[in-house]
Amino acid sequence: MLLEIFKYCYEYSFITGENMYAKEVENTDLKKARQSLIEELEAVNWYETRLAEAKDEKLKKILAHNRDEEKEHAAMLIEWIRQNDPEQDRVFKEHD
Ligand SMILES: [Fe+2]
Repeated sequence: MLLEIFKYCYEYSFITGENMYAKEVENTDLKKARQSLIEELEAVNWYETRLAEAKDEKLKKILAHNRDEEKEHAAMLIEWIRQNDPEQDRVFKEHD
């Protein structure tokens, strides 16, 4: 499978003159940030669900606090992505 991917990248780069492998390496940090953002937002949802189901008031406070921290983590990642992906930054400013 990996060999096929490399072969595809090589053939694509031959056709387009683009070095897809170099591009892939270049974008690694962006991909990590995007995936981390997905996971932070999923964590917000998990905390929301648990918060809705919890009975103990003290636990509910902890879960709400943790949920809000996950929102902060998501915001930090969005900020980083905007600083490192000009197109993403542009659409934040110019979307419909
Ligand atoms: Fe987090």
